[in-house]
Amino acid sequence: MNKLKLGFLASHGGSNMQAIIDGCKSGSINAIPVVVISNNSNSMALERARKEGIPAYHISQKKYPDPDLLDYAIIKILENHQVDLVILAGYMKKLGTKVIQRFKGRILNIHPALLPKYGGEGMYGHFVHEAVLKNKEKESGCTVHIVDELYDHGRILGQAKVPVFTDDTPETLATRVLEQEHKLYPEIIGNIASGKIVI
Ligand code: GRF
Repeated sequence: MNKLKLGFLASHGGSNMQAIIDGCKSGSINAIPVVVISNNSNSMALERARKEGIPAYHISQKKYPDPDLLDYAIIKILENHQVDLVILAGYMKKLGTKVIQRFKGRILNIHPALLPKYGGEGMYGHFVHEAVLKNKEKESGCTVHIVDELYDHGRILGQAKVPVFTDDTPETLATRVLEQEHKLYPEIIGNIASGKIVI
């Protein structure tokens, strides 16, 4: 079976991206990371990509104020690297419609909550964990889903749960969830690459 070619979009730390790259390197995911795009020139994600010898591009709204041109720039890079699967790994920008249409059904995201709860516009990072704690939820977790035009909305491919403790802070909960993200995201991508999950 041919290796899937993965293209990443990431804004900050890129720890999920790294977990997936490590899975490809160890052979547990039958895929190759071929390109990394970030809207943030100082992101750890770009640094990690360079360290791994993966082509890395900084593409931002500042460089491309016209949303269509921004979309085309992203599409061109993904096409040039023959990307099969687009992986959003902490990408803090809403992906443009043109990119979503071009790679329809082949864009994945990870969200740090059990969707459909705690998703949607404005629900990201610490806001998610704060809302979970405010509602005194007993459990939280993470969700890998297909990206469509709506925030945190497409088909759910997998979830992992964690307990929520009464003395949790948004930070302690985020850390517990992130640990699961690093297992779930590579697992789902591995299952797509092996044909166990059909997208
Ligand atoms: C994760 O919590 C992920 O769920 C969310 O953004 C964060 C990214 O972390 N979409 P990292 O950049 O992978 O370290």
